[in-house]
Amino acid sequence: MSNRTFTMIKPDAVHNGHVGAILEKITTAGFVIRGLKMTQISQREAEVFYDVHKERPFFGELVSFMTSGPIVAAVLEKDNAVADFRALIGSTNPEEAAEGTIRKLFAESVGRNAIHGSDSDDNAKIECAFHFSAREIY
Ligand code: RTP
Ligand code: MG
Repeated sequence: MSNRTFTMIKPDAVHNGHVGAILEKITTAGFVIRGLKMTQISQREAEVFYDVHKERPFFGELVSFMTSGPIVAAVLEKDNAVADFRALIGSTNPEEAAEGTIRKLFAESVGRNAIHGSDSDDNAKIECAFHFSAREIY
């Protein structure tokens, strides 16, 4: 079990002005922010990041959405970080997400669902390294 995970506040939530409220939920839940940046990812970066989904019917929509505006990326630390963060963000589809979860509160739809959370310790490491150099993590 690792104590780090990676998140992106997605373009819908940034556009809708939810960055502050979402970071507040994350820190109140006990996560410590070790790295933080606002950035806009390129088409190529989105294709690489979501390579696991390249055969899925929603892949084109996903890449075009994730590159449509700035995101806020963060490295988060807490015991049991990956699983606890997935619980905090809720189900992929906000209509199925539990009350009080970030997606229930802030997501627009399954495609525009406000936030990303790593799904394993291995992917958390890969995703942190994809977005942050060692000197950007504190
Ligand atoms: P994420 O990777 O963003 O944390 O989301 P997740 O694990 O809950 O869901 P995943 O299966 O990894 O899907 C990645 C993202 O693809 C979009 N999606 N759209 N239109 C659709 O049916 C559909 N299904 C998935 C969502 O933005 C999802 O977060
Ligand atoms: Mg995923």
